[in-house]
Amino acid sequence: MRAIVINEPGGPDALQWTEVDDPIPGPDEVLLDVAATAVNRADVMQRQGHYPPPPGASPYPGLEASGRIAALGDGVTGWKVGDEVCALLSGGGYAQRVAVPAGQLLPVPHGVSLVDAAALPEVACTVWSNVFMIGQLRAGETFLVHGGGSGIGTMAIQLAHARGARVLCTVGSEEKAARCRELGADVAINYREEDFVEIAKPVDVILDNMGAKYLPRNVKALAVGGRLVVIGLQGGARGELDLGALLRKRAAVHATGLRARPLDEKASIVASVRENVWPLIESGDVRPIIDRRLPMSEAAQAHRVMEGSGHVGKILLED
Ligand SMILES: NC(=O)c1ccc[n+]([C@@H]2O[C@H](COP(=O)([O-])OP(=O)(O)OC[C@H]3O[C@@H](n4cnc5c(N)ncnc54)[C@H](OP(=O)(O)O)[C@@H]3O)[C@@H](O)[C@H]2O)c1
Repeated sequence: MRAIVINEPGGPDALQWTEVDDPIPGPDEVLLDVAATAVNRADVMQRQGHYPPPPGASPYPGLEASGRIAALGDGVTGWKVGDEVCALLSGGGYAQRVAVPAGQLLPVPHGVSLVDAAALPEVACTVWSNVFMIGQLRAGETFLVHGGGSGIGTMAIQLAHARGARVLCTVGSEEKAARCRELGADVAINYREEDFVEIAKPVDVILDNMGAKYLPRNVKALAVGGRLVVIGLQGGARGELDLGALLRKRAAVHATGLRARPLDEKASIVASVRENVWPLIESGDVRPIIDRRLPMSEAAQAHRVMEGSGHVGKILLED
């Protein structure tokens, strides 16, 4: 098969479409013939050499994929060869074939094409696990997501809106603000022109991609009993936390990463996504938001688009 290989960390041209050995599915895994994968910020960091794959994961980038099951490893039940699925991966999606733990498979939702289903697993699992399982966002509460036009942001806005929250987001341009309002954001704040704290506070749940840079202002924006969930460190990892403010507000700060979580935790997140998010996709309340589709051999161009930040939603790579 072919896969995108990173021989030396570096710029987008480090991504090389190369002939490699096929993966072999282990016990409780399936082999997937990949139809498409999607680009995530983490793939850019992996390419740059800042985010090595966890032990045991494929060396190739790609945290999600869609495709058809080509073979079943020992012990797999509930799936058969030929099933059309999408999957959460710990790596290896930028390839023609990938081995996946069966607990990380999801059926392609009715109404979504096989290729477009590649846009769903990473954002659905990240948003569901952080905003709803950890953050416990409830109907009628206020929710703020930073980077509303990102892959994560476009899913978070739709899901929070569909579940009855008041939704605010930050964005870097008026075009992205308009797209986020179309997706269900009640308020889109241009962070280049306005202070999100003044507009958004008090906020019950914040999903943050910026880390240190926004930590003091996120804490200021939290309501009494508020929950801040940090999932990205685009603004640095080390910041100052005002524990006094947290104490007075009885508020909580969480920071989590999905990729390195143990298999059983990933499987339980995937099961909860299938139960709670899939029906909203099948009813049309939540859609995969796809900026563009490129051939997998053009992964370098896809990374340039992501780093330029002109995209809204997901960038897909098709085989
Ligand atoms: N922890 C986890 O398990 C996990 C899983 C998936 C993703 N993530 C994280 O989630 C974030 C989004 O991932 P993605 O793959 O969806 O990436 P993406 O589509 O490339 O989005 C990155 C976003 O950051 C926004 N941004 C840049 N500077 C900003 C600022 N000062 N304030 C607010 N937003 C700003 C950009 O929007 P503008 O152009 O509008 O500035 C862009 O939409 C990343 O930080 C990623 O690492 C974490």
